[in-house]
Amino acid sequence: MSEFESQALEKLNPHKLPWHVAIIMDGNGRWAMQRSLDRVEGHKAGAESVRVVVKACRELGIKILTLYAFSYENWQRPANEVRSLMNLLVHYLYREFRAIRDNGINVRTIGRSFDLPVRVQKALNRIITGTAHNKAMIMNVALSYGGRDEIVRTTRHLLKEAMEGRIKPEQIDEKLFARYLDTGDLEDPDLLIRTGAEFRISNFLLWQSAYTELYFTDVLWPDFRKEQLLSAILDYQRRERRFGMTSEQLSKIATIS
Ligand code: FPP
Repeated sequence: MSEFESQALEKLNPHKLPWHVAIIMDGNGRWAMQRSLDRVEGHKAGAESVRVVVKACRELGIKILTLYAFSYENWQRPANEVRSLMNLLVHYLYREFRAIRDNGINVRTIGRSFDLPVRVQKALNRIITGTAHNKAMIMNVALSYGGRDEIVRTTRHLLKEAMEGRIKPEQIDEKLFARYLDTGDLEDPDLLIRTGAEFRISNFLLWQSAYTELYFTDVLWPDFRKEQLLSAILDYQRRERRFGMTSEQLSKIATIS
């Protein structure tokens, strides 16, 4: 363990960990270009960061980790890059199956997984069913995911339910709407990390991130390791989450509970 890591672990407040961490893994292409490598090599190195970060989150006691692995908009990339990303995903899912299952991790997906090639769907179904009973951590992979698309699909679904008489329009409130989203009963993210020196949300978890703490770093995703994760969590722990209330109201609530 590095000196930085042990110092960061000492500073970490185990009672104030983010329950749900979401990550926009950006910068694979630039990482590869800086090394005169093909973009695909950047994605391969990025898959190693995924392995390290999943393990680190599990060890720290994070309960939900949502990873933006492939956006709905990513289908527009060159066909060979899309194919390589799909192959990489299949490879990762088969290679990491045992480690994920044996570490109590439950894999789920959000997004239009029905759009994915059959070989990807097969690999996903195997890991989803094989880890369905795991309770230690949820690894939620966003695939062919777009926040606006998710909201539109949810609206369509609710409308159908109402038209077919299963729900009444006046029953639709924020709580019910959220339950129909792909994230269903998952708590909203507490911390959203974006790597790769870009400062935007890029259509990720639009509904769910209403009160999420945002953390942006210049570090490119293939260079993101446990140290960088700890830095993000320490930064999160220094923030005051007010959810629209005042500091005074928050301290009152804290003394009551
Ligand atoms: C963004 O980098 C990254 C992606 C579009 C794909 C993320 C995929 C992985 C990390 C690998 C596989 C995933 C799993 C879950 C095993 P970019 O290509 O947009 O980088 P750039 O902005 O530097 O071009």
